[in-house]
Amino acid sequence: MSAVKVFVPCDSAALAAGANEVAAALLNECARRGLAIDLVRNGSRGLFWLEPLVEVGTALGRVAYGPVTPEDVVSLLDAGLLDGGEHALRHGITEQIPFLALQERLTFRRMGITDPLSLADYEAHDGWQGLKRAVGMGSADLLHEVTHSGLRGRGGAAFPAGIKWKTVAGLQAAQKYVVCNADEGDSGTYSDRMTLEGDPFMLIEGMAIAAMTVGATEGYIYIRSEYPHAVATMTRAIALATEAGFLGDRVLGSEHIFHLHVRKAAGSYVCGEETAMLESLEGKRGIVRAKPPLPAIEGLFGLPTVINNVITFASVPVILARGAQFYRDYGMGRSHGTLPFQLAGNVKQGGLVEKAFGLTLRELLYGFGGGTRSGRPIKAVQVGGPLGAYVPESQWDVPLDYEAYAAIGAVLGHGGIVVHDDTADMAGLARYAMEFCAIESCGKCTPCRIGSTRGVEVIDRIAGGANREQQVILLRDLCETMVGGSLCAMGSMTPLPVLSALDHYPEDFGLTAADHQAA
Ligand SMILES: Cc1cc2nc3c(=O)[nH]c(=O)nc-3n(C[C@H](O)[C@H](O)[C@H](O)COP(=O)(O)O)c2cc1C
Ligand code: SF4
Repeated sequence: MSAVKVFVPCDSAALAAGANEVAAALLNECARRGLAIDLVRNGSRGLFWLEPLVEVGTALGRVAYGPVTPEDVVSLLDAGLLDGGEHALRHGITEQIPFLALQERLTFRRMGITDPLSLADYEAHDGWQGLKRAVGMGSADLLHEVTHSGLRGRGGAAFPAGIKWKTVAGLQAAQKYVVCNADEGDSGTYSDRMTLEGDPFMLIEGMAIAAMTVGATEGYIYIRSEYPHAVATMTRAIALATEAGFLGDRVLGSEHIFHLHVRKAAGSYVCGEETAMLESLEGKRGIVRAKPPLPAIEGLFGLPTVINNVITFASVPVILARGAQFYRDYGMGRSHGTLPFQLAGNVKQGGLVEKAFGLTLRELLYGFGGGTRSGRPIKAVQVGGPLGAYVPESQWDVPLDYEAYAAIGAVLGHGGIVVHDDTADMAGLARYAMEFCAIESCGKCTPCRIGSTRGVEVIDRIAGGANREQQVILLRDLCETMVGGSLCAMGSMTPLPVLSALDHYPEDFGLTAADHQAA
């Protein structure tokens, strides 16, 4: 009889919740009882409130238990864990847990299912299908496929990937680069980290297809310095993929060359801005460059460079494997495909929800998130990272679509969703947005560098109450200057959380509705 497969994630969210200790306890207790198990360290399924989530392979499928502590191991084994036995921590067949069953996982379809560093596992779960198809296609056909899929950048700005790739493909240069932005600094976001740690070959495959399309031979993955597990996993995955011929001097035996490297980021939010990232990659301080020239034309070391977010590249293999139309048919309007939304903050069921564009925030907050962890009513939701607007309940039925969100003065960004209950002080959160900008500003332009510090002061004066209406006018004026005069989105988008807090929650700034209208 073969050993029972038991899965304990090696994703850092699971590790933070004690997954290594649970794995050790399972191995010890099984050895003591003479039970043979095959322990697999998989990626996370993204059901973070259940981490460490232990799964057991049974004839009916994998059965999930969680959150498991080392102290639970004895009672779990007593209850017949290895046969999927009943226990208070049992959640049934993993795939049937509503949080997972209701998702449309295209990019994350392998997440938590495979051993992230097993090439055999990757291949057995449709890995390299996109690259294998791409290798037989020319650049023009590849460009058509990516463009037709409707894929837009998942890092925040939602720029069409096909247009960016076409620009680089059309240039003649001795060297072109493909750079992956894995700096992932947005509050409440972790889809990049999960990919780097949980399905690294998918990112390699997407970047190799990009390189093939544009004629690049060198690539870099710029990984957030606070992600040591991601750095280690990606580095190992690149070595394995190179050994196996998926990277290197003859990608899949073809004439295509693609060498890929990992670089640890500099530990600053603004280094995620693409031109500051290029400076940092070149070994300089992370200061934003003026555009033009666009990085596609003069990027890394002044040469043509494709820069995309992790999820943008990671979406490419399934587009090539299943066809552009398959991907395009998901979503709504000009937002095609799916977005891995990341539920965080004060939410009962935090985790990753990949769904086609077009669902609503309400569905995410209650259908998936189950409301707040505190049990109190939800007051405000920040969508799209620290530069995203606070979305009030009156807007929770707006479809999550790039254009629909722009129409209400909000952004989807990288899909981060941070929930606050009714104890949140929105003036305090507005102040925090300005303070964050002041701390993280690269300092190149005045509206952001000085404006954010003045913004903190003005909000403090509003909270103090003296001359409040006048100070609100000043704050709006300052925000207008930051929007119009900042060189990059750090300064121009900080007013989004500030003004949305002021507009939707004036009472938290000590304003009555009448004051607010006057201001
Ligand atoms: C202050 C700031 C921080 C950013 N941080 C990130 C980041 O961590 N990851 C990312 O992919 N994009 C980030 N961006 C967006 C990038 O500048 C760029 O638009 C993106 O990497 C392009 O890839 P995409 O088209 O695939 O989204 C940031 C932008 C700004 C202004
Ligand atoms: S807006 Fe801020 S972060 Fe961006 S270039 Fe200006 S000072 Fe730097």
